[in-house]
Amino acid sequence: MKRFVIVGTQWGDEGKGKITDFLAQKADVVVRFQGGNNAGHTVVFNNKKHSLHLLPSGILNPNIMNVLANGMVINPKALIEELEKVKNFKLMISDRAHVVLPYHLELDKAGENSKGGKKIGTTHKGIGPTYTDKASRIGMRMSTFISKSLMPKALLDLINKKNQELKEFKVKPLSYKKILKEYQNYANIIRQYVKDTSIYLNQAIEDDLIILFEGAQGVMLCLDHGTYPYVTSSSPSAASVPLNTGIAPWLVDGAIGVTKAYTTRVGEGPMPSEIKGELADRIRKVGNEFGTTTGRPRRIGWLDTVILKHTKRVSGLTYLAVTLLDVLTGIERIKIVTGYKLNGKIIDSIPAEIEDLKKCIPITIETPGWQEDITKVSSYKELPEQAKTYLKLIESIVGVPISMFSVGPDRNQTIVIKNMVGEA
Ligand code: GDP
Ligand code: IMO
Ligand code: MG
Repeated sequence: MKRFVIVGTQWGDEGKGKITDFLAQKADVVVRFQGGNNAGHTVVFNNKKHSLHLLPSGILNPNIMNVLANGMVINPKALIEELEKVKNFKLMISDRAHVVLPYHLELDKAGENSKGGKKIGTTHKGIGPTYTDKASRIGMRMSTFISKSLMPKALLDLINKKNQELKEFKVKPLSYKKILKEYQNYANIIRQYVKDTSIYLNQAIEDDLIILFEGAQGVMLCLDHGTYPYVTSSSPSAASVPLNTGIAPWLVDGAIGVTKAYTTRVGEGPMPSEIKGELADRIRKVGNEFGTTTGRPRRIGWLDTVILKHTKRVSGLTYLAVTLLDVLTGIERIKIVTGYKLNGKIIDSIPAEIEDLKKCIPITIETPGWQEDITKVSSYKELPEQAKTYLKLIESIVGVPISMFSVGPDRNQTIVIKNMVGEA
């Protein structure tokens, strides 16, 4: 595959950053196509840990072009803070990407606080309000943001409007003068990177470059195919790539579904395979399951193949990359969710109605675990038989071949079963 999508198959934090960084060693371009700094992607190599939020996971390689495409929402302040931590990089930002401004963050917080028991548990990064403005056709795009002549008036109109909205939430108004001064400075720094990235990407395809499209979040957080309304405001699926980057759909070769060996979720909303108590605490501790962006403890569950089959269907998955396999070491019997019981009936798909999903009782199968430390394993055949059986079960239930697996956070702890990059 020359052009493929790295898709989160669950509720995010599957290890997309790690897999993208690993595969990027053979790539020319890495593209983020949706979301913003609600994402938190961890990349570890040479004993150093890097947390990325807006920047694609190719940014740490000075030879790779990194693209923030039109489907993203970009907080300029957060972007500049991240860029300050990287020395040599190649970057391009779409002139059609939307800009996250201070009132979006205020509205995100205020909106959540007003929802009481119905809050989504957002990251408070202003993502929902920015996409709302985009859909309402009042958002500010990068092209306007970097325009010295257009930005001041556009910002004034928006701040006047948004201060009215904030007033309804009893939040004090924001100062136009202060924001203008601060954000003009950011625009001056960012301007050099802003381009029509669709033109660049189409040329890169003509030049036969290897391009990775790095998803943020996971398909269960997709605005259309996730657990609505407990979702984010964009689509992390492979289908989202053409629209959100400006290339033709048939130019994408395939998708790698990054799948944690169990399930996690941050924020509110149903999660049928959720487990609580000692075992969940142990997995959380071993897997270091605390959010990269907000530090919140992640909820833990068994691997749910109903979800994986849903992701395969709505997004398309050519291969799976199974991550955090090492975290399951030492668990005597590992469960896999294969279906749900809803109102006495067995189903193996995700109900659209959230009230139905809340009622779903998981149906599980069990497989024996392994005791051996697998963090130094360097090939599939070195895995204990029980771990091989676990991977084979996932493959056969979901119906997607596993091309790689991962046994630790480091780039070296990634094992390729079938090479995908650059193949015909
Ligand atoms: P992303 O949002 O999908 O990129 O995932 P995150 O980076 O938010 O969360 C995945 C976490 O698991 C990070 O802390 C990674 O360093 C870590 N990680 C990735 N793969 C493995 C693995 O195979 N084993 C272990 N133990 N940790 C891993
Ligand atoms: P990565 O890319 C996990 C969750 C939030 C909340 C919901 C909506 O690291 O996998 P938002 O701020 O997007 O409006 O919040 O989505 N969420 C994530 N959960 N990983 C992420 O990104 C997430 N990005 C958003 O916790 O439930
Ligand atoms: Mg993450």
